[in-house]
Amino acid sequence: MTHATDSADIQNLISQAFNFRHATKVFDPARKIHDSEFDTILESARLSPSSFGMEPWHLLLVQSPEKRALLRDFSWGANGAFNGSAGQLGTASHFGILLAHTGATMRHHSDYLQQHMQEVKQLPDDVIGFINGAYQKFQEQDFHIADDRQITDWSARQAYIALANMMTTAALMGIDSCPIEGFEMDKTSAVLAEHFDIDPARYQPAVMVAFGYRAEAPAHPKTRRAMEQVVTWA
Ligand SMILES: Cc1cc2nc3c(=O)[nH]c(=O)nc-3n(C[C@H](O)[C@H](O)[C@H](O)COP(=O)(O)O)c2cc1C
Repeated sequence: MTHATDSADIQNLISQAFNFRHATKVFDPARKIHDSEFDTILESARLSPSSFGMEPWHLLLVQSPEKRALLRDFSWGANGAFNGSAGQLGTASHFGILLAHTGATMRHHSDYLQQHMQEVKQLPDDVIGFINGAYQKFQEQDFHIADDRQITDWSARQAYIALANMMTTAALMGIDSCPIEGFEMDKTSAVLAEHFDIDPARYQPAVMVAFGYRAEAPAHPKTRRAMEQVVTWA
């Protein structure tokens, strides 16, 4: 890691990146993100933390215009309907859908989780046994994550950590982004099943995300609540 004396420079860079990032409505369609930079964005997602280390999400990248067109009608937050443009779907260099794992894979003791702990995390059997018990208690007693919808929502919460890290990583490289919840869940699931081979029993769309380079300056300056309104020190 960088030496502590560089901290002021890093703070400055971080501050600049967070002020630079804005929810980009229209990207310059001619500008594409270089592969190595996009790989860095993806790596920041892959290395993101997740509850129990279960990594309960998957990122589907939708690059072909034909495939993106399948999402247009019901993705009102990304189709430019608000400003008469081609929207993020029509202009982004890269367009992704973060998929949340459902209870089929994320319920305690599932085959998927056993395989994840054995092969990805390379944990010994006794540790896996311990985690199985702790995870079951976490789901059933601590966080009340019992039904399929609740498990999927929990997975989505982990996906949003990856989402945030990707957008910050992009901003640090001068790359724009937009998180997108403006879509109809059921229709998106149906299109994912029919055209992308995504099994709705295993995955639900959580949030979409677009990356590229802004076509124009943000329409409005950034507004936020004051620090003391959002942070309490006790
Ligand atoms: C989870 C999430 C979903 C969002 N969905 C959309 C969307 O569908 N379309 C859009 O243009 N912006 C969307 N936004 C952008 C927000 O409106 C934006 O982040 C907020 O107004 C603050 O503006 P700023 O990001 O430019 O600072 C979304 C943001 C988040 C975090």
